[in-house]
Amino acid sequence: MPSVQVEIRFQPSGRTVRVARGTTLLDAARTAGLPAARACGGDLLCGRCACTIAAEGAPAASEAEERTKRRNRVDSDKRLACAVRLEADLEASAPGW
Ligand code: FES
Repeated sequence: MPSVQVEIRFQPSGRTVRVARGTTLLDAARTAGLPAARACGGDLLCGRCACTIAAEGAPAASEAEERTKRRNRVDSDKRLACAVRLEADLEASAPGW
């Protein structure tokens, strides 16, 4: 039976947290006690939660996420933490993490 929890490692701190699968990466960062910029409150509007996902395991970006990145001039290789629903273990980095 697949695990219902996933393990997320944040860089550069190296802090690791286990959260329920389906949790957003932004909420996982908050659970880990890390700062999580979210001017729009996680509504996929501001682009402030941009981060880099280093390992495989992130679901593909939705068209809404891509649109928000373009509108906020976020690098195309970044992901928006409020839009990433965690499906598998992964490693993510952002300033302050
Ligand atoms: S918190 Fe605003 S786009 Fe993610």
